[in-house]
Amino acid sequence: MTKYIVQGGKPLFGEVEISGAKNAAVAIIPAALLVDGVCRIENIPQISDVTLCLRILEQLGASIRSINPHTVEIDCHCIHSTRTSYELARKIRASYYLIGALLGRFGQAEVAMPGGCNFGVRPIDQHVKGFTTLGAKVVVEGGFIHASTESGRLNGANIYLDVVSVGATMNIMMAAVMAQGVTVIENAAKEPHIVDLANFLNSMGANVRGAGTDTIKIHGVDRLLGGSYAIIPDQIEAGTYMAAVAAAGGQILVKNIIPKHMDCITAKLQECGVEVEEREDTLLVRRTGKLQKANVKTLPYPGFPTDMQPQITTVLTLAEGTSLVTESVWNNRYRYVDELKRMGASIQVDDKTAVVEGVDHLTGAPIQACDLRAGAALVIAALAAQGQSEVSCVQYIERGYENIVEKLQALGADIRAVEEPGDAEELEAHIG
Ligand code: EPU
Repeated sequence: MTKYIVQGGKPLFGEVEISGAKNAAVAIIPAALLVDGVCRIENIPQISDVTLCLRILEQLGASIRSINPHTVEIDCHCIHSTRTSYELARKIRASYYLIGALLGRFGQAEVAMPGGCNFGVRPIDQHVKGFTTLGAKVVVEGGFIHASTESGRLNGANIYLDVVSVGATMNIMMAAVMAQGVTVIENAAKEPHIVDLANFLNSMGANVRGAGTDTIKIHGVDRLLGGSYAIIPDQIEAGTYMAAVAAAGGQILVKNIIPKHMDCITAKLQECGVEVEEREDTLLVRRTGKLQKANVKTLPYPGFPTDMQPQITTVLTLAEGTSLVTESVWNNRYRYVDELKRMGASIQVDDKTAVVEGVDHLTGAPIQACDLRAGAALVIAALAAQGQSEVSCVQYIERGYENIVEKLQALGADIRAVEEPGDAEELEAHIG
């Protein structure tokens, strides 16, 4: 069992290189199943969710060659099964992308139901609605989602999503790229990783137009062939380091980012009194003065991302005045608040709203991560706090942040990972 020991209260200085986007990688790797050839995927983050995705593909018969730590070649020429390992697929929420990819390529898929949830209810009704509208039959049996077609090929159709869903948009896109005819997804999500998946598919020979707007049009093609593609930088990882310097103070250069993707986070941090200077593919982030209060409401892109809600709330615990945070994407995404309170934060949660009364300082404490972004928020709190904190259950954090300890150490943070006897808690509840 790994814990992070953090001596807080030290401002951060230096440079941090942002890795490839987790939520793009966990969709693009399954999308390689659609390709009848070798896909070379670059800028893959080294995180445990990606390792799991690659293992699932291997178990289906894909041949995977690691070119360097961030580049793999995936050959899905010899897929011998459309049924995923129950044990592997249930460990990662994003395993639902295997349904769209297998269904799109082979006309059938059997994928373990994604695991329980760490926050709120996480239904997949919009994914299922998409597949059935394209002509698939979908049933849940024995813990598996079985999706199948009679002819082996889906038929293009118009699909109006009842909620803006990142997962449903990407899953339907994967299912539709080789469907017969044209598919239109209305009320589609617009996150950068939606555009990234469309660009990946197009670079392999698909015909997807409009990704990044709320209407996506897909002309089905007969085959996708191999190619090479580099994943975009991780917006949320970059935002997390920006929030870390906002909370702990100092000045850092956040490298390898797409500044446009950061606008929603940059604007909010600037409102809090953080200075952010944009360059071509870097951001210089500085916080020297007192933090100011701000109100935050999470929304689908280009709104403020829910995956930055715990981190910004942590920053606001140290801001002058009272801030209001409204979580409008997920229910119950405030479970980390009790841990922040152990450190002296003053936060009252009522349903979707957190009222954050800024305090002068936080103090170090033993704290426990309950999911990926909550874990990142606790690390930020520990960096800013006076004294020592011990962050446990960091396996959640390592699902989505590559080398977080080393990256923070390079910024001058006093953080180290220590191994303790005991079994790591099984990550049954797979958010992210
Ligand atoms: N929803 C439905 N029905 C559906 C799908 C979604 O009602 O069929 C609802 C959800 O309950 C939620 C809202 O729609 O209230 C948005 O859910 P969405 O489908 O967009 O989320 P997701 O695709 O399951 C991805 C990210 C999450 C991120 C959300 C929102 C991946 C693997 N996960 O989840 O990332 O919070 O989009 O941006 O891409 C994280 O990285 O920490 C993380 C949780």
